[in-house]
Amino acid sequence: MLEARGLAKSYGAIRAVDGVSFAVEPGRILGLLGPNGAGKTTTVSMISGLLKPDSGEVLVAGRPLRGDTDPAKGKLGLVPQELALYDELSAAENLRFFGSLQGLGARTMARAMDEALAISGLADRRHDRVKTYSGGMKRRLNLAAGLLHDPQVLLLDEPTVGVDPQSRNAIFDALEALRDKGKAILYTTHYMEEAERLCDRLIIVDRGKVIADGTLADLQRLLPAGNRLVVELTSPPDPKWLMALRALPGVASVEESDHRLTLVLDDLAGGSAAVLSCLKAHGATVASVTSERAGLEHIFLSLTGRTLRDS
Ligand SMILES: Nc1ncnc2c1ncn2[C@@H]1O[C@H](COP(=O)(O)OP(=O)(O)OP(=O)(O)O)[C@@H](O)[C@H]1O
Ligand SMILES: [Mg+2]
Repeated sequence: MLEARGLAKSYGAIRAVDGVSFAVEPGRILGLLGPNGAGKTTTVSMISGLLKPDSGEVLVAGRPLRGDTDPAKGKLGLVPQELALYDELSAAENLRFFGSLQGLGARTMARAMDEALAISGLADRRHDRVKTYSGGMKRRLNLAAGLLHDPQVLLLDEPTVGVDPQSRNAIFDALEALRDKGKAILYTTHYMEEAERLCDRLIIVDRGKVIADGTLADLQRLLPAGNRLVVELTSPPDPKWLMALRALPGVASVEESDHRLTLVLDDLAGGSAAVLSCLKAHGATVASVTSERAGLEHIFLSLTGRTLRDS
């Protein structure tokens, strides 16, 4: 539905985007992830036609997008990182304005506005001026404004910054519903938890380049010590248990300290059962088991040597 091929953009000596390619299918959410300045907004701006790429192209439904006036742009819905709202207008007036820019007729408009107000949870504030809204309310309206014309492709640039957890969940539910209706969604964020929850596939960009691309499970496999299982025992472990555990297939390492074993497994889901039955067979009593999958934070750190938030 949406394809980016070799997009590149420089600002003077800064290569803001340096050869970014990906595709988003209908009914899928692709996460575009990276630290501040990675080139996410520049990428989204090139896709939406706001910014002309130095090289590369954008295809919508298999056809190259020709600049800002291409009618295929109507298939795209952009939710920009910078709020694009009129402070002096009410939510309803803002939505009507953006809807008319998109060429919505009166009947479609009424329905689209009701849906937008429901998604943003602002139905009861619809006649209040936007300048009286909280930051999170503005964010929610900004999102709703981008969805008014029922676009096939949604470009969301950090849509939940400053939104409280409850509204964020409401936004996620709305996005999941849109995905299930077959929309292709590009979701830009630097919140790992969001990407992990929402995205079918993830692209990590850093300094304008794609440094990893795949499902969360694919990315986790990039980390050699990604899957840790911590087993607390009721008594100190016997050296024989450790030998038996180390001999199990899929166990990369076992460390002990006091009553605790920390194992690194190739596959957390598949390996844990074998570990526990091995311990049981040797008469060990397990007090608790906890597991840690490598999060995207870890993955980014291991790929770049920097943390996502501080770089
Ligand atoms: N209009 C501009 N003029 C000059 N440099 C720019 C411009 N817009 C972006 N840049 C530079 O391009 C790089 C990428 O910026 P971009 O806004 O795409 O990053 P981002 O990944 O969206 O970051 P953030 O998470 O902070 O939103 C940065 O180094 C930024 O300083
Ligand atoms: Mg940005």
